[in-house]
Amino acid sequence: MKLNYRGMTIYVEKDYAAMSRAAAELLVQTVKENSATVLGLATGSTPIGMYQEVVKAYQRGEVDFARTLSYNLDEYYPINHDNDQSYHYFMRENLFRHINILPENTHVPSGEAKDVERSAAEYDEKIYAIGGVDLQVLGIGNNGHIGFNEPAAIFAKGTGLVDLTESTISANSRFFASIDDVPKKAVSMGIATIMQAKRIMLLASGQGKAGIVAQTILGEITPQVPASALQLHRNVTFFLDEAAAAELLAKLGK
Ligand code: F6R
Repeated sequence: MKLNYRGMTIYVEKDYAAMSRAAAELLVQTVKENSATVLGLATGSTPIGMYQEVVKAYQRGEVDFARTLSYNLDEYYPINHDNDQSYHYFMRENLFRHINILPENTHVPSGEAKDVERSAAEYDEKIYAIGGVDLQVLGIGNNGHIGFNEPAAIFAKGTGLVDLTESTISANSRFFASIDDVPKKAVSMGIATIMQAKRIMLLASGQGKAGIVAQTILGEITPQVPASALQLHRNVTFFLDEAAAAELLAKLGK
């Protein structure tokens, strides 16, 4: 099902696999139209299926990433880039090493920088210098975070060091040996960095996301729900599975 709500495009797919295929189609199509596309990429469990579909399309010879650039949303801080919980590692394992994107064309905020604020500011400068992100992939946290922009009193602007909330630390502890091993900080693109992308796609799956998805699309635009800022973007597409869309569809009477 395809919906349009106040300028936002919303695809509701049967399940996670169908949602992943639909999202991959948009990413692949974008790179096919312009092989020098600048992708903004996300980690987390949600986009893994989409990345697998992208890899399959590459293996079928449908798409070429030789001129593609990528900028990831975020990285834990501090973390060693070889740590298997780092987002550098995640991106290598789930996407980069399976396609022909050049390692020097991939960028992930540094979890190792000594001067983290400076390295974060330089990250934004690089993105702006190349003309910005063409297609930004997002997941969404249970609390409405995008990147690691947690609910706050104001929208964060540029890339910077952020404190993770207890809810995010606890949600992400499923990937670590113990909750004490989860880093308490991260470097994340800011809301302004995310909003400068020419096109944004947000993926959400499962009933755990149903409430926050409805709030993001229908609710008040507030930094307490960072993803609600997307209502102000002029080219945003949501890829939801039926479980994640349930509350939205109920509220819309669909
Ligand atoms: C990841 C990121 C986060 C995740 C979010 C959802 O780069 O920026 O905002 O998208 O925490 O994570 P999952 O997909 O694991 O539910």
